[in-house]
Amino acid sequence: PWQVFDTLRADAPVHWSEEAAPNHGFWSLTRYHDIVGVLRDTETFSSERGGVNIEELDDEQLEVRKSMLETDGARHRALRRLMQGEFTPKAVGGYEIFLRGLTASTLDAAFANKEFEFVSQVAADFPIRVLAKMLDVPDADTHKLIDWGDRMIGNDDPEHADVLASSAESEEFRLLPFRSPAAREVFEYGNDLADKRRGKDGTDLVSRLVNQEPMDGKALNERDFNSYFLLLVVAGNETTRHTITHTMNYLIDNPDQLALLQEKPELIPWAVEEFLRMASPVYHFRRTATKDTEINGQVIKEGQKVVTWFAAGNRDPEVFENPYTMDVTRNPNEHMAFGRGGPHMCLGNSLARLEIRIMFETLLPRISNMTKLSEPARLRSNFVNGIKRLPVRVELVE
Ligand code: HEM
Repeated sequence: PWQVFDTLRADAPVHWSEEAAPNHGFWSLTRYHDIVGVLRDTETFSSERGGVNIEELDDEQLEVRKSMLETDGARHRALRRLMQGEFTPKAVGGYEIFLRGLTASTLDAAFANKEFEFVSQVAADFPIRVLAKMLDVPDADTHKLIDWGDRMIGNDDPEHADVLASSAESEEFRLLPFRSPAAREVFEYGNDLADKRRGKDGTDLVSRLVNQEPMDGKALNERDFNSYFLLLVVAGNETTRHTITHTMNYLIDNPDQLALLQEKPELIPWAVEEFLRMASPVYHFRRTATKDTEINGQVIKEGQKVVTWFAAGNRDPEVFENPYTMDVTRNPNEHMAFGRGGPHMCLGNSLARLEIRIMFETLLPRISNMTKLSEPARLRSNFVNGIKRLPVRVELVE
């Protein structure tokens, strides 16, 4: 998509697109500062009205999906506050030892063969195992979480397509997030955990969700719990996985950067920001204008959709010099992979940063060379910048 983003950013930074969806047009923002302006101005640009995906949803569909991501104001704050304490740098730092052990064993298993597939052997299981620990889900069930995430996020990809042409229209699936039957399985699984943990004093995320009273002295109702649980399962899964895979791919393509990080591992915490900028695993979210307004001189009408292309903002040459060059020493690096400013800025950003850092702090000292056996197989999606497979060959340090 990069060429399209560059053209739009230069020639039509606030661009109306309707070709792909007649009568359901939307504004595309590709300049960094325009995007930041929209994310911060929650009075004018709502996440609740119409939701945050480009897709047109009716009120009924919106009602069942309304997670913290799709709410504004007090309701959003109440939902976010429920989990805020679990994702602070300090709280996630408590997982560091667990993460180091998990990374080492994941790499031991993958490196048992010189040739292996990086996504399935390294990147896919790792983030979900962390989440499984936080949710206190048995190890044996982690593959279910991975499968659900793949089916929901991948449902525009012909290889994964979970939503049959017929079911996309069917009433049964219409009300499910991503129109995917996998969402119902997630709901059932989450509800079962919730039932078992309600009224008990567990410290896992599910126990905390069901035993707190965020709104008007009431616990989350089933709908709110469902969308919360689903958001946690989806948000922390694919995004981190794809960042790790993109990074490996970029480092293989930029051996000077890989060598630099091996020589000076103290650069890795900083390099993680460049990994995130380059990977931009979430292409976009969307807002809806609550009143007539203007962006960059362009009139936006009340009710119109405004799409913030984070991936395009992360390649804006006004902000990032040589935006297509991976520079692990780039400073400053105020990328927008997690959004930038505004109340919806990624809740899991400290956890994601820690996971990515530990992965590369563990992986890089162990390899003397890594090459690709073929170019990465990309996921077909306009939402997640994903890699399905990356076959590699590794030479280990003696
Ligand atoms: C929100 C990206 C990992 C949980 C977001 C947003 C983005 C994003 C772009 C919306 C920002 C906005 O609209 O201003 C990413 C990326 C990740 C990642 C690139 C990994 C590399 C995680 C993880 C978790 C998580 C590990 C937790 C398990 C959330 C939640 C929200 C969110 C709960 C909604 C926050 C709100 O609406 O207040 N993320 N995310 N994310 N993310 Fe992440």
